[in-house]
Amino acid sequence: DADLPTEWMTPASARALIADRPLVSHKGTFGHLMIVAGSRNFVGAASLAAQGAHRVGAGLVTLAAPDSVYRLAASRLTETIHLPLPEDADGRIDPSAADVILERLNNYSALAVGCGLGLSDGTATLIERLLLLGENPPALPTVIDADGLNNLSQCADWDKRLRAPTVLTPHPGEMTTLTGRPTVEVQADRLEIASQSAKGWRQTVLLKGAHTVVASPGGQRCILPFANPALAAGGTGDVLTGVIGGLLAQGVAPYDAARLGGFLHGTAADRVRSQRGDAGVVASDLLDHLPAVIADLR
Ligand code: APR
Ligand code: MG
Repeated sequence: DADLPTEWMTPASARALIADRPLVSHKGTFGHLMIVAGSRNFVGAASLAAQGAHRVGAGLVTLAAPDSVYRLAASRLTETIHLPLPEDADGRIDPSAADVILERLNNYSALAVGCGLGLSDGTATLIERLLLLGENPPALPTVIDADGLNNLSQCADWDKRLRAPTVLTPHPGEMTTLTGRPTVEVQADRLEIASQSAKGWRQTVLLKGAHTVVASPGGQRCILPFANPALAAGGTGDVLTGVIGGLLAQGVAPYDAARLGGFLHGTAADRVRSQRGDAGVVASDLLDHLPAVIADLR
């Protein structure tokens, strides 16, 4: 099946994807995201993802993180609900936590997995149980990033076994891990590789970097109009995961959540650059801009 024409995302195409907020509404109207993230070495990744989701209007956000991450992150995350999880000796989520998460999944509208999770046999088992066919909980719309992707690549036949409608958000190195293709090849043919992967995996793929590409399993694809070194700093991808998860939780379809989320994130970064320049921006600088980016697009 042929690819559809490639779309260049504009403010108008982003606006068309932003839903109205009913005046008569409550937190349940805007969904409940569960984020599974964090480990001893990556406490901030979990926190940035949670804040990204809050700042795009998710009604409720629950962070499921290792107990020691919870203790450090909770005082900053005043609006987040917490689900502290058992952890292994290295401060990563213990695979036994899959039971705790799976039995609660019917309380949520979307799932975001992977930021700062760490990589081990235990985290790969956790990912297998949460995301792949085998167990039978509700198949929540899901975004998988970072070590979620790295762990996924360790699971046999992962590409045929993803249970839910999913957005995968690899940076070029993670795309190499998932596809086995060298990063120079990925970068030389970003649009094609993202499109082929989306079709082969039957999922939405967002390939990160300057001029981020988003591709749907049905052959739709678009390019985001941002090239901005302010974003080339640790943690900006974790904010994006929260943004996409927050949109999925509100019922936005995976391909639209990926391209709208990427557009909001890139626009916020352009605003930060115009105020503070393109060196020394940190990921959390993006967060405060997100609500106004949405309001100004409407
Ligand atoms: N122009 C435009 N956008 C850019 C640019 C650029 N020059 N550089 C980076 N970005 C954007 C990407 O498109 C993406 O949205 O910034 C974000 C960077 O995301 P990641 O590469 O995932 O970076 P990071 O947040 O540090 O990831 C955190 O996850 O991917 C792992 O190994 C990574 O452990 C680290 C963690
Ligand atoms: Mg990342």
